[in-house]
Amino acid sequence: MPDQVRIFDTTMRDGEQSPGASMTHADKLELAQALDGMGVDVIEAGFPAASPGDFAAVKAVAGVVREAIVAGLSRAGPKDIDACAESVKGAVRPRIHTFISTSPIHMKHKLNKSPEEVLEAIHQSVTRARNHVEDVEWSAEDATRTERDFLRRCVEIAIRAGATTINIPDTVGYSFPSEYGAIFADLIESVPGADKVIFSAHCHNDLGLAVANSIAAAMNGARQIECAVNGLGERAGNAALEEVVMALRVRRDALPFETQIDSTKLTRVSQMVSRITGFPVQYNKAIVGKNAFSHESGIHQDGMLKHSQTYEIMSPEDVGQGQTHLVLGKLSGRHAFKSKLGELGYTLADNELADAFARFKDLADRKRAIYDEDLIALVDDAIAHGHDSIQVARLRVVAGTDGPQTADIELTVDGHDVKQSATGNGSVDAVFNAIKAAVPHEASLALYQVHAVTEGTDAQAEVSVRLSENGRVAAARAADADTLVASAKAYVAALNRLVALRARGPDAQESAA
Ligand code: KIV
Ligand code: ZN
Repeated sequence: MPDQVRIFDTTMRDGEQSPGASMTHADKLELAQALDGMGVDVIEAGFPAASPGDFAAVKAVAGVVREAIVAGLSRAGPKDIDACAESVKGAVRPRIHTFISTSPIHMKHKLNKSPEEVLEAIHQSVTRARNHVEDVEWSAEDATRTERDFLRRCVEIAIRAGATTINIPDTVGYSFPSEYGAIFADLIESVPGADKVIFSAHCHNDLGLAVANSIAAAMNGARQIECAVNGLGERAGNAALEEVVMALRVRRDALPFETQIDSTKLTRVSQMVSRITGFPVQYNKAIVGKNAFSHESGIHQDGMLKHSQTYEIMSPEDVGQGQTHLVLGKLSGRHAFKSKLGELGYTLADNELADAFARFKDLADRKRAIYDEDLIALVDDAIAHGHDSIQVARLRVVAGTDGPQTADIELTVDGHDVKQSATGNGSVDAVFNAIKAAVPHEASLALYQVHAVTEGTDAQAEVSVRLSENGRVAAARAADADTLVASAKAYVAALNRLVALRARGPDAQESAA
């Protein structure tokens, strides 16, 4: 029987530490249920001591997840551990994940603690966590830059104090696969009690090696891999969940391990995370990118027509990437619309369905053929922004060669109409200036990106906007058949997120580790 490798998802914790990738309480609940339904073994729901909002989100996730273990992250101090215990205690399978830095550079400059003090903190923190729950994970932050002998002592103390999972993070994404694998082989071989715990890999992607390192860890005894959907995470991100899962599946000949992930849900969950965070998935992203199964050159197309395995090592269906279907037109009724949404994995409440159907009819009037991607963009937009307190009601723009370009915008702000006009250096600038005049703020535009959802000049435009204000970063995405309307909606959606971030307090964007 192949060994089981547990998939630990940290999209909501390390993933949320990507600047601009903040998630609302409702987003986290939706994502947690999707991850649970996909077969993830452990869901790290957040860092409860970071803010009351984080605490509440972890608690809420603990309440809805049925199968997976729900973990909260905690520093080594008693207050953090107690807050973490309180937030996960409603879970069917609660876990406290506590960590402390073990490398010389972190101990000296970040913690200002001696190695002996760190060893004592490990003993205290794991013992305290074990008094709350049976399932305790301990992580050696910056493990790959830790002196090996000291790392062995740390791991031994954590195991003796009752840790059930030992995580060896490559916190700064510095390791090579051969080095990272060797650390696992050594610890598993030499630390007393190592055979009683599960070793875990947690890799950052600073050198683009996060997935390779995670696989090397599994080859050397790790039986849990920590990863995030779309590779989200601090700086260059974490190992991408979809890549780890498919590497293990496709290369079962070389790696006799199994995960319990339903891989056909990978693309849907990737799109959900992209919609929630406002971070687009790059076209050539492995597994879930739009081009991951496209064959452009004549030679490749010819090979594919003769036999799909000439150029495909897995099929698009294996990862839930269907073929593009022409789906509906302007004569399609509510029933066909609802059943198509069901096929795409959406179950909407009656009011959401009515709203999405109205948007669909509006789009069908403007665009001849509606594809799966159009529906996904449209419904994701409705779900993501339907309840925002600031909404775009109307937009009129004068564009063209003779400036100044002008925009007249009508917003509803907490139910009140607000109208403003502005000029700008180009029509997008005019639209954003008009929004700024209607809802004054100090945020600056950190990213503006447009791409077409499907082919053709009548394709919907999907716009990503990132706003930055006093160290807080808010990102959002919106789609519309009119690029300027999509731009206005994306800007306003990011503004809504910024308002929510302000309400979470000054530390809302600060990272946990
Ligand atoms: O990268 C890291 O070291 C972490 C730990 C807190 C697990 O995210
Ligand atoms: Zn990390």
